[in-house]
Amino acid sequence: MDFRPRSAVIILSLCILSLNPPVSAQRKLNFDTGWKFHLGDLPGAQQPAYPDKGWRQLNLPHDWSIEGHFSPDNPAGYGGGALPGGIGWYRKTFQTSLDTATRLSIEFDGVYMNSEVWINGHFLGNRPYGYSSFIYDLTPYLYRDSANVLAVRVDNSLQPNSRWYSGSGIYRHVWLIRTSSIHVANWGSYVTTPVAGPEQALVKAAITIRSDSDQRAMVTLVNTVLDPGGRAVDSFRSRATLPPDTSLVVSSLIPVSGPVLWSTDHPAIYTLRTDIYSGKFLLDRYCTPFGIRTIHFDPDKGFFLNGKPLKIRGVCDHHDLGCLGAALNDRALQRQLQLLQAAGVNAIRTSHNPPAPELLDFCDRMGILVMDEAFDCWELPKVKYDYHLYFDQWHKKDLQDMVRRDRNHPSVILWSIGNEIPEQGAEDGGQIARELSGIVKSLDTTRLVTSACNVVSAADLNGFAAALDIVGINYSISEYDQQKAQYPHRLFFGSETTSALSTRGVYHMPADKYTLKTPDMECSSYDNCWATWGSSAEEGWRAIRNRDFMAGMFIWTGFDYLGEPTPYTYPAHSSYFGFIDLCGFPKDAYYFYQSQWTSKPMVHLLPHWNWKPGQPIDIWAYTNCDRVSLFLNGKPCGVRSFLTRDQMHLAWRIPFSPGRLVALGYRDGKMVASDTVSTAGRANLIQLIPDRSILHCGGTDLSFLTVKVEDAHGVLVPDAENLIHFKVTGPGTIAGVDNGNEISLEPFRASQRKAFHGMCLVVIRTTDQPGKITLQATAAGLRPGAAVLESR
Ligand code: GAL
Repeated sequence: MDFRPRSAVIILSLCILSLNPPVSAQRKLNFDTGWKFHLGDLPGAQQPAYPDKGWRQLNLPHDWSIEGHFSPDNPAGYGGGALPGGIGWYRKTFQTSLDTATRLSIEFDGVYMNSEVWINGHFLGNRPYGYSSFIYDLTPYLYRDSANVLAVRVDNSLQPNSRWYSGSGIYRHVWLIRTSSIHVANWGSYVTTPVAGPEQALVKAAITIRSDSDQRAMVTLVNTVLDPGGRAVDSFRSRATLPPDTSLVVSSLIPVSGPVLWSTDHPAIYTLRTDIYSGKFLLDRYCTPFGIRTIHFDPDKGFFLNGKPLKIRGVCDHHDLGCLGAALNDRALQRQLQLLQAAGVNAIRTSHNPPAPELLDFCDRMGILVMDEAFDCWELPKVKYDYHLYFDQWHKKDLQDMVRRDRNHPSVILWSIGNEIPEQGAEDGGQIARELSGIVKSLDTTRLVTSACNVVSAADLNGFAAALDIVGINYSISEYDQQKAQYPHRLFFGSETTSALSTRGVYHMPADKYTLKTPDMECSSYDNCWATWGSSAEEGWRAIRNRDFMAGMFIWTGFDYLGEPTPYTYPAHSSYFGFIDLCGFPKDAYYFYQSQWTSKPMVHLLPHWNWKPGQPIDIWAYTNCDRVSLFLNGKPCGVRSFLTRDQMHLAWRIPFSPGRLVALGYRDGKMVASDTVSTAGRANLIQLIPDRSILHCGGTDLSFLTVKVEDAHGVLVPDAENLIHFKVTGPGTIAGVDNGNEISLEPFRASQRKAFHGMCLVVIRTTDQPGKITLQATAAGLRPGAAVLESR
C-alpha cells in the first residue's frame, strides 16, 4: 500500500478523468414507498407467489400499533401505551435492470421487533432487537430480469416486552444500497480527529474496503476532506491489493489547517469523501459527515467542549412522535429537537436504545450533544418478554452495530451500555459491564463509556461502576456528594434526573404543597408533583448547577411519551413526565428551563386567569430578567426579584378578580420582556395556527397545526373541551390528532378531537401532488377556523 500524501490538485484531476456517472447519487436509495401490509400472521407469505393482492398499500415508515384502539386488554398494558401489538407482514415487489456486476443490499434502520426477512423466498435473517439497524445482501438471490419479492414478518406479539410504548412494524426508513463488488463496507468508515485545535486538525480515516469479487484486485483509495461549504480541503491517496472475498482496512491522515470547530453554537460539518478507483474507473463513492472538536470530562470541573466548560443541559426522550406513534417522520423529529433547543436544551439521551440515524444527523447539524444508549436490560428482566431473552445471543452484535453505525457523529459524546441495569446488584454485574465496555472500546475510544445507575452504591461493590469511564447517577441527589467524597477522581453526571409530573393547564393550589395524585388523573403544573424517586424541576437543576463536578443532567423527560403514565394506571396511557406534552405544546415547566438556560429576555406567567372571585391564587413567573412587576387590571400587585441564586421563580398570592394580569420583566432597570394572561369569556371561535404553511410536496412533509378555542377577544378558554371536526381539501391528509390528555381514549387517527384545556393538535401530511391544502375546523356553537397551506 502506498500511504504517500498527494496534493488535492492531483486527486481532483483524477476525479475529473473518470468518465462514469457519480456513484454516490445512486449508492443509497430510499426504499420506503410501495409496500403492502397485512396485519396478522399468514404462514407462507414469504413465498413470492403468495397472493397479496388484497393487502393494504402503504409507504414506510409504518407503525400499526398507533392505528389501533386503546384497551386495558392489549398485552402491552398501560405501561406500553395500551395499544395493540401482534404480528404483521410487509411485502414489496420491485424490478431491477442492474447488470450482474452490481451488488444490491437492503438496509433497515429499525423494525420493531423480531423481524424476519426474505427475498424471493430465500431467508436472509432475523433480528430480535427492534432498535438495531441491519443490512442484508440481496445479490445472490436477485432476479435481474424479472420481479423480486421482499417479504418481512414482524412479530411484536410477545408482550409486555417494553416499559414504554414501542410501536410495531417497519417504523424507520429502509434503503437500497447499490455498489460494485469492491466497495466501502457497510458502516465501513471511521473518522476521528486525533488533533483538533483551532489552528490545526488531523483527520484520521480508517476505511474498510470490502471485495466481494472472486478475483484479486488493485484499487486506489482517495480520501478527500470537504469543508462545511463543500470545498475540497485536502486529499490522501492509497493503493491496495485485495485478494478475492476479503475486507481490508486502509488508513489515511489528512491535515486541515484552521478548521472550523464543531460546537453546540456552530455545528460545522465536514465530509470525508471516499472514492475507490480501479484504474480511472470510479467503483464507489462513500461520504461520511464528521465534525472536528474535542471533548473531555474533568473530575472536578465537568464536561469540556473544545477546551471550554459546558454544562450538559440534556433531556431523556423515548422515540415515539406522539400521535404519529413510532413511525419515524423526519420533520416531526426535527420539530421535537427545535422545541427542545428553544428551551435551552443542548443534549439528548436516547433512552434507552439506539435512535433512528436521522436523530443523530439532526443533532450533528443543530449542535445537540447525544448520549447514545444501547439497552434497558441485560440478562435480568424488567418485564417478562424484554431484551433479556435475546441478550446472550445478540448483545455483542447489537452493541457493535450501534457503535459502528454512530461513531462518526460529532454529536455523540457518550456511549451508554445500559439504563438502570438490574445487574448493578448482581455478582456478575461487574464482569458483564467490563465485557460491554470492552466491545465499545474495541470500536471507539474517543468517547467515554457510561451506564445510568440507580443503585450506584450497589454498583460500587461488584465492579460495575468501576467498569465505567464515567458514572451516570439516576436521581438520588444525596448520592452526588457521597460518591464524590468516596471516589474523588471519578467522573459523574446526572444520567437521569427530576421525573417531575404535570398535565398541561392543570394547577393544584397551594403551589407549595406536594400533591401526587388526584381523582381526575391529572398532575399539577406548579412544580409541586413528582415521582417519589424524583424531585421538582427546580431541585433537580439546582443540584446539578451547584456542583461543578457533575458534568450535567438529562431530565426525565423532554417530551411526554406513550406509555408509563406514572402515577396513574389505565385509562391513563401516556406519560406526565415531559415538560412538553404529547402534542408538542410546552407545559409551564418548559419555561422554567428556558428561564434558566437561555439569555434572550423572557417572562412566563402561570396559571391561567379563570378562577372563582375572591379565591386566593398563586401566581408564578419564570423569567431570566432580574425583576418582575405584576399588574392586575393596571393596578400594581408588587415587584419581585431574586433574593438568592437558588430562588428559581417569582411568586405572588392574590385574591382572584377577573381581568388582565400583566408581568413586566426588567434588566438593569429596563423593561425587556412581558407576559399577559387574561380572563376568558365564553368559547367563541376556533383558531388554527400552523407551524409551517409552505410544505414540500411528496407525502412526507408535515404541518403541525395548533388548534385553540378562544373567546370573542382571542383569549384561550382554559377549560374548553369542544369536540372539533376537521376537513381537509386539496393534496393533504390528516396524519394524526391529539390533545395531550393522558387519559383520553380517543384514537390518534381521526378527523376530530376534543379540545383539552382549550387546545388540540392536527397534523397535516402532504401527498405527492402539489397545490393548496385547506383545513377547516368546526365545532357546535363555535365560529369555524380555517388555514391554508401550500404544498410545493
Ligand atoms: C427511571 C427509568 C426511566 C423511567 C423513569 C420514570 O427510573 O430509568 O426509564 O422509567 O424512571 O421516572
